[in-house]
Amino acid sequence: MKNIVFSFLLFMTVNFLAEAQAPMGEPQPNQPADIYIIAGTAHSDLIYKVSGRDGKLYQAYLGEKLTNPSSSGQLRNSDHPAYATFGTDNLFEPAVRMTHNDGNPSLELKYVSHNSEKPAAGVTLTTILLRDPVYPVDVTLKIKSYEAEDVIEQWAEIVHKEAKALTIYDYASSMLHFDAPRYWLTQFHGDWAEEMKMQESELTSGIKIIDSKLGSRAHMYQTPVFFLSLNDKSDENKGELIAGTLGWSGNFRFLFEVDEKGSLRVVSGINPFASEYTLQPGKIFKTPSFIFTYSNKGKGLASRNLHHWAANYGILDGTKGRLTLLNNWETTGFLFDEKKLTGILDDTKKMGLDLFLLDDGWFANKYPRNNDRAGLGDWQENKAKLPDGIGYLVKEADARGVKFGIWIEPEMVNPKSELYETHPDWILKLPNRPETFYRNQLVLDLTNPKVQDFVYNVVDGMLTANPSLAFIKWDCNRMMTSAYSAYLKDKQSNLYIDYVNSLYGVMERIRLKYPHLPIMLCSGGGGRVDYGALKYFTEFWPSDNTDPLERIYMQWGYSYFFPSFAVCNHVTSWGKQSLKFRIDVAMMGKMGFDIEVDKMSENDLKFCQGAIQNYKRLSDVIWHGDLYRLISPYDENRAVMMYVNESKSKALLFSYTMNARFGETFEKVKLQGLDPDKTYKVQEINPSNEGRRFGPPPMRGGSYTGEYLMKVGLDAGLGFALSSAVYEISE
Ligand code: DGJ
Repeated sequence: MKNIVFSFLLFMTVNFLAEAQAPMGEPQPNQPADIYIIAGTAHSDLIYKVSGRDGKLYQAYLGEKLTNPSSSGQLRNSDHPAYATFGTDNLFEPAVRMTHNDGNPSLELKYVSHNSEKPAAGVTLTTILLRDPVYPVDVTLKIKSYEAEDVIEQWAEIVHKEAKALTIYDYASSMLHFDAPRYWLTQFHGDWAEEMKMQESELTSGIKIIDSKLGSRAHMYQTPVFFLSLNDKSDENKGELIAGTLGWSGNFRFLFEVDEKGSLRVVSGINPFASEYTLQPGKIFKTPSFIFTYSNKGKGLASRNLHHWAANYGILDGTKGRLTLLNNWETTGFLFDEKKLTGILDDTKKMGLDLFLLDDGWFANKYPRNNDRAGLGDWQENKAKLPDGIGYLVKEADARGVKFGIWIEPEMVNPKSELYETHPDWILKLPNRPETFYRNQLVLDLTNPKVQDFVYNVVDGMLTANPSLAFIKWDCNRMMTSAYSAYLKDKQSNLYIDYVNSLYGVMERIRLKYPHLPIMLCSGGGGRVDYGALKYFTEFWPSDNTDPLERIYMQWGYSYFFPSFAVCNHVTSWGKQSLKFRIDVAMMGKMGFDIEVDKMSENDLKFCQGAIQNYKRLSDVIWHGDLYRLISPYDENRAVMMYVNESKSKALLFSYTMNARFGETFEKVKLQGLDPDKTYKVQEINPSNEGRRFGPPPMRGGSYTGEYLMKVGLDAGLGFALSSAVYEISE
C-alpha cells in the first residue's frame, strides 16, 4: 500500500461501451489501461481492478501482501464484481439492487474516480466512486485499512438525484470473493443463556445465510461474526482465513454463495429482509461497516489482530483501564431498600472493588418496579425503596471511596407504566392487532425524535442531577415483534434500519456530552455484542448465564472476535463450583462480582480480596496482552489460554479442567508468545485446595526458559473436574 501512489482518473464511458463485447483479459486496441487500487495493510492486500475493457470495478486479489510492486499488474483475469448490481447481466447475489422512479429495476456501476487519504497515522481511507451511466445514482465504496492491526473496514454510501424517492432492496456493506478448492465456515449461535456456541461446516454449492431479524438487537440466535477458512479447516496457528464481523446492532446478514465454478462470494451487511428502503433524493444511505482481518497463520493471529484494532479503534477508550465492580442483580433481584444498598456499598469497599452497580428495580412509583411486569419507562426513583433518591446513594458511595453505577433500559416500556398511559403513540405496535410481549414489555419507537429526546434525557437527567455517577449498564431486553411505527407512517419497511441509526444518533449525543463515562452494553445477556454499538460503549455483558462451566465455552467463543477488557465476567452463585474456580474463570476478562459478600466466610472473603488484588495488579496483561488459546474446550476436557504483554516480560496462564476421569492426567501444555531466550519465573496465583478430592497436587511454580516453556511445556492441568489453576509468568 505505502509504495503505491494513487492517481485520480476520470474515464470516458464511451470507451468502455465500445469494448463491451471483448472477452475478459484480452486487451483490445485503444483500450484504456487497467487501473489497480490497492487497499493493503502490513501483511494483507485487497486489490481492485478498474477494467479498461468495460470501466467496471472488479476484485482482483485478497490475500497475503504482494511485496513485489509489479505483481498487482499481473492480476489480469479477474471477473469478480467488486459490488455486483442487479438488473443487467448479473446472475448471482447482488450487493446492491434498486428500482428507479420510472419503475426500471436495473443498475450498472462504472468507475468514476478514486482517491486515498490518511485520516490518522497508520490508517488509510480509500474511496472509490462508481456511477450508473443511465440513472443519476452514485455508489461510493469506502475501504479503511488499519496498517499495523491488519484489519480492513468496508462500507458503501448510496445516493441519487432522481426526481422522487427510490426504493433500494439490497445495500451490502461488503462483497468479497474467494477462489479455493474448499471453504470452511465457523459460525456462532445460541439462545438466551447459551450464547456463542461454535460450529464449523463446509460450504457447498449454493447459498448459506447467517442472519437475524430481531430489530432492536443484533443477535440472540446467530451472532454477527464468522471465520471463513480456505482450502482446509484452520486451527489456532495454521490455516488461511478471514475473520469477519458486522458493526450493526440490528438485523444483519452474511450470505455465502458458491457458484458453478466453485468461486465463493461473501455478501455482508444489514439484512435486507422486510427492509426495502425508501431513499430520498440527495440523502446518503450509509451502510454499517464490515470489519475483517486476513490471516495465513490461523485463528489465533486473526483474533489478536481484531483485539488490537478493537483496543485502538473499535471500542470506546479501549486502551484505558476498566472498573472492577459489585453488582446486586443476582443477590437482591428487584427487592432492596436503602439500608440493603448501603450495606452493599460497604461490601464493595471491603472486597477492594472500584464500583457498586445498582441493577434493575430502583424506579417507578405509580407502578413500582418490583418485578418485570411493571414500571419500565418511569425513570423516577421509587420512593418506598429509595426515599432519599439516587443522590443519597452516590454520596454514600463517595463517602466510602467507591464509585456508584446504575442500570437503565431506556428504549423499553411495560404496559403497566405511566409512560405507556401518557404516550401510546411512542410505542412500536400494530394499530389493528393485539400487542405481542416479550418479558412483559414493548419497544419504544426510537425513529420518533420525541422518543430520541426522551431516551437522551433519561441519561442526561440522571447525570446532571448526580454528576459523580460513574457507570451505566444499558440494557435492552427484547427484540421487535409486531413492530409498526406510528411515526414512520407509509415507510414501515424503513423501521429496522431507522431504529438502529436513531439509537446511534442518541449515543452520539450522549458521547458528545459524556465522552468517557463507562457504559456496559447489555441486551438480556449477549444480544448487542457488535462493533457498531461498541464504539459508544466500554464493555459488554456476554450472557446472563454465569455458571463458570458454561462461561468457559462462551468466553472462549467471544475471545475470537472481542478483546478481554470488554467481556464482563461476574462471579455469581450460578453453578456449584468452588469459589476459586468461579473467580479464575471470571478473571480471564473484565472481572466483577455479584454475590452475597455479607454471607461469606472469613476465609472466602480473604480469598476474594487476594484474588482482586492479583487481578488489579495483573489486569493490564489480561486486558491488553496478546491472547494465545492453547487448548480448546471443544477438543479436550480442559481449556488453557494465556496472555502475554508486549515486551514479553509478563504472562498469565489460565488452565481450567471441565471434567476428568479418575486418575486422569493431562499432557503438558506448550506455551506461546514468550521470548525463548528469557528465563521466566512461573508462580501459581489464587492457590487453593477447595473442591479438590483426588489427583496430583497442582504445579505450584518454578523457573524455566521461554524456550523450555514453549517447546517442552508445563504441567498446567489439574486432574479433577471443575478445577483451575492460574500462573503468573514473569521474566
Ligand atoms: C437482563 C440483564 O442481562 C441482567 O444482567 C439484568 O440486568 C436484568 N436484565 C435486569 O432486568
